[in-house]
Amino acid sequence: AVAADRASGRFLRDAGAVGEVRFHGEHFDVEGRSTVPRSPQGRPVIIQAGDSDEGREFAAAHADVIFTPHGSLEDGRRFYADVKRRLSRHGRRPDQLKIMPGATFALGDTEEEAAANAAAIRRAQVGPQTAIAFLEQVWGRDMSAYDPEGPLPDVEPDLSEGVSQGRVAIKDRAAVAAKWRALAEEKHLSIRELVIEVTGRQTFVGTPETVARQIDEHVQAEAADGFILVPHLTPGGLDDFVDRVVPILRERGAFRTHYTGSTLREHLELT
Ligand SMILES: Cc1cc2nc3c(=O)[nH]c(=O)nc-3n(C[C@H](O)[C@H](O)[C@H](O)COP(=O)(O)O)c2cc1C
Repeated sequence: AVAADRASGRFLRDAGAVGEVRFHGEHFDVEGRSTVPRSPQGRPVIIQAGDSDEGREFAAAHADVIFTPHGSLEDGRRFYADVKRRLSRHGRRPDQLKIMPGATFALGDTEEEAAANAAAIRRAQVGPQTAIAFLEQVWGRDMSAYDPEGPLPDVEPDLSEGVSQGRVAIKDRAAVAAKWRALAEEKHLSIRELVIEVTGRQTFVGTPETVARQIDEHVQAEAADGFILVPHLTPGGLDDFVDRVVPILRERGAFRTHYTGSTLREHLELT
């Protein structure tokens, strides 16, 4: 709904002194006084999550930060260039919109330990029931009779109606099913292993040194301005990162050693 209403973005930007609020637009019709005091940062940081052409343009016009799934180096560089290029059309500088992919991570003392850690996390995230539920999103039928630790059954997907996979609808389920089947056969995967394989892996896997280097490289290569870390455990899931990766990022000059402001807007170096 927000993406549909460019007027709402203008409303947030132009609201000078909070107190009097007067806005008449296609989607909002507001007039009155706010009793909420103005925040120290003046206006909230607007973080946009959308990926379509329209969504990117909306972010270029109004957002301070884009939260994006484009976290790999090549994909990130493409997305970064595309979005930054749009800003001048809206009279904005490239540094006025920060591009921050969501990123997951798995650490270890060695690369092997990190890889084993990453695999254990994915296995815990995709339990037997989750695996079957994922399969059902694509197959469009009750798959609960099948053993998640067994092979993909020889049953065809039911394509009669659309199934929505949470927030992302799978557009071509027949094609996805065919791809999954080919992958399962090629790698001899069980249903659960297949779902683990196709539902993504951690963005950064390695020792604290490799992870810090990769993050820095992404920023230097203009694939991101920073990352929104998504720990696999809450609470406590960031502790390891803070204790082990942040010091190395600081040594590299890639992370602040002290705060220069007190608001999120200032931490993000937004003006
Ligand atoms: C990285 C990312 C994270 C998102 N997270 C959520 C979410 O947590 N909840 C939600 O309802 N929609 C979420 N969305 C959906 C967007 O808010 C938006 O509705 C959707 O992407 C449609 O915009 P688009 O057509 O420009 O992509 C997310 C989208 C992206 C790209």
